[in-house]
Amino acid sequence: MSINFRVFAALVFFIYLPVLAIPVEGHKILISAPNRHAVEVGRNIAARGGNVVDVAVAIGISLSVTAPYYAALGGGGFALVKMNDVVDALDFRETAPKATSRGYYLNLPKDSSQNGGHAVAVPGFPAGLWELHKKYGKLKWSQLFDDSLTLGRKGFPVSGEWTTKTSSVREFFNTHGQNLFFKQGGAAYKPGELFIQPGLVKALIEFKTKNVKGFYEGPVARDIVESVQESGGKLDLEDLKSYKVRWLSPLTTNYEGHKLYLMPPPSSGGVVILSALRLIEDLKVKNKPALSAEELHLLAEIHARAFRGRALLGDPDFHRNPLKFLTSDKYLSQLGQSVESKKATALAPLSLIDVKESSETTHFSVLDNEGHAVSLTVTLNGNYGSGVVSRRFGIALNNEMDDFTTRPGEPNMYGLIQGEGNEVQPGKRPLSSMSPTLVEKHGKIIMAIGAPGGPRIISGVLQVLYRFLGRGMDIDMAIQAPRIHHQFQPNILYVDRQRLSPEVTQALKKFGHNIEEGWMAKVYGVRLRPDGILEAAYDSRGEGAAGGI
Ligand code: DON
Repeated sequence: MSINFRVFAALVFFIYLPVLAIPVEGHKILISAPNRHAVEVGRNIAARGGNVVDVAVAIGISLSVTAPYYAALGGGGFALVKMNDVVDALDFRETAPKATSRGYYLNLPKDSSQNGGHAVAVPGFPAGLWELHKKYGKLKWSQLFDDSLTLGRKGFPVSGEWTTKTSSVREFFNTHGQNLFFKQGGAAYKPGELFIQPGLVKALIEFKTKNVKGFYEGPVARDIVESVQESGGKLDLEDLKSYKVRWLSPLTTNYEGHKLYLMPPPSSGGVVILSALRLIEDLKVKNKPALSAEELHLLAEIHARAFRGRALLGDPDFHRNPLKFLTSDKYLSQLGQSVESKKATALAPLSLIDVKESSETTHFSVLDNEGHAVSLTVTLNGNYGSGVVSRRFGIALNNEMDDFTTRPGEPNMYGLIQGEGNEVQPGKRPLSSMSPTLVEKHGKIIMAIGAPGGPRIISGVLQVLYRFLGRGMDIDMAIQAPRIHHQFQPNILYVDRQRLSPEVTQALKKFGHNIEEGWMAKVYGVRLRPDGILEAAYDSRGEGAAGGI
């Protein structure tokens, strides 16, 4: 990085960003995660000789206790894993119950894919954790539960985030959720107060002693099915029993002398990031001053164009994804040529597109000094998912069905008609934006990152990769740096709330962008420096923690 750039960047940060920190360092295994309990649990496992997969699985279990609004056992997600010599992508995304169909939501009330039993897809998170352990774990399965069981039994002090997220959906919960997550009499837990979960502890013991069967069969499965059906849904015992994770090959691309491993469909993240990085190189974006209106304008135009292809994607087991076309030189160079340097221009859609937004997901990254890595994103989709909480074991259940095209041919909640490849079909996984990502140099993983934030996951991960690999910022600077988000439709350029200067925002308006201030994804990342020291950072846009050994 040149001195001039450092001075420039420092000026921008001093003026607009009084939140810069320095990365947390470690030498053996380092974690960036959404809360301190997760980091403590992970650190304990690392100290007991666990590998990165053991650490990740134990963190995942702990988040089901401390952060059920986005990481309950009733959710699903994706992980990229580097163990041995290969990078694998694990898909533990939820699937549509067998009683659903293309027209399933047409005769139901409009919000049925978001609230209540009809919104619940078959959870994948427990199967994902077990699969990771089975394939790569070193410690005993039972050891991975110790700290989480203590957090559930003795309680943990809830955070501001926990209180806010829980209180904000009080009316949306079913009765079991209201009884569980509020005190007797209905008062909310205040930040710092202890929250204990004897029901969830019992479910975790079932999971610990019987592994996947302890969740997908037996009393926990029955509890989930009864609670979903009580709320109108059709999920049944057979749906749970037949759930399967799948291993996929990551998408790969080269950027700035590094090899990137990206999440393939049913995530749209990898395709969009890959296309955008190609356009960033083709349009020589890094020749523009960092964080200037000229640079952010190009990034906005690139985002809009890279997101355009998302409408054509869906679950690869059910839909033929035109990946060759979307990543071809011909298509990408046409996109690049359509960008003007100081004027916003909009392309016609490839298809009518799904632009749904949702607000609850989380991510953690674990990396060791030998380049073994796990980058894992998990979600319930909305805050506490469907609002359905199981009666006996207190498991919050997703509303991932809303990520499907739920009303083919009809406008969605944003007035848009959505893509065909993502229509509801039994056993199918909905299209996602989740983008766990690994970066390799000379055959060794040197960075693990990812984020929650719906489509903003993609813009978040992409811009951190660009700032870190393309512009030489350190990992913390790259994460905290101001961002933009454009997802093609609606044609709005979202600018990072309170992080862009009024002058830059004004200049972007003059280029013709429709600007709105908005929230951005929270990125969690770890990187391995050339001297062998690990560095971790998490986003100051929300709660988080980093640490390890
Ligand atoms: O899979 C998806 O793309 C969404 N269900 C993720 C939702 C999300 O990231 C919300 N986070 N803040």
